[in-house]
Amino acid sequence: MSKALSEIKVPIPDSALCVGTVPAVMIAEKMGYPIVVKMLSGFGGKGVMFASSKQEFTPILDTLQVFKEFILLQKFVESGREDLRCYVVGKEVYAVRRIAGEDDLRSNVSRGGRPRLVDFPEKYKDIVLNSATIAGAELCAVDLIRSDNEALVVEVNFTPGIMVKYFGPRFAKIFLKFIYKRAKEKKMVV
Ligand SMILES: Nc1ncnc2c1ncn2[C@@H]1O[C@H](COP(=O)(O)OP(=O)(O)OP(=O)(O)O)[C@@H](O)[C@H]1O
Ligand SMILES: [Mg+2]
Repeated sequence: MSKALSEIKVPIPDSALCVGTVPAVMIAEKMGYPIVVKMLSGFGGKGVMFASSKQEFTPILDTLQVFKEFILLQKFVESGREDLRCYVVGKEVYAVRRIAGEDDLRSNVSRGGRPRLVDFPEKYKDIVLNSATIAGAELCAVDLIRSDNEALVVEVNFTPGIMVKYFGPRFAKIFLKFIYKRAKEKKMVV
């Protein structure tokens, strides 16, 4: 997905998919620390690690070798420990700001991040809708991290939780209405 996004000029953090230990260290040195190390099998923030030096990165790499996994290396973006989850519903976008818990750099709600419904900044509309289009999704969530007034896409999520627990049924209703409308157009409901 990162490759597809960069090809259509959607801004993403500097990223590289790595297989072996030696190239991973070389890439990290070239990117410059701190870096983010992501296991491809990770989810909900699990499998996302941070290394601010070669000394910190090397034992992480050694440990990951045990799992024989591909990893994604990413330049660490100073985003103030928060991200913006942008829910795409057709051509509409709804935004949830997620702020990491005190003891974490990851803003995932499952890792203690606090979600807050905010007005979607219209200036990000092209980035978000282009990301959804390249992913082929009309319903999805595009996660942005922001630094120096620049927004970078970290991920397009095809099955985002809609956090009824936090935002109540009103938010879920927006999704369900859209699904119903599409199903009717395709004559899947009468
Ligand atoms: N390059 C980065 N720089 C700084 N923080 C990052 C970076 N990448 C990720 N993060 C932080 O870590 C969190 C988790 O990262 P990411 O979304 O890539 O993995 P994931 O949440 O495990 O994946 P999924 O959403 O598919 O479950 C992000 O929400 C963000 O707060
Ligand atoms: Mg995520």
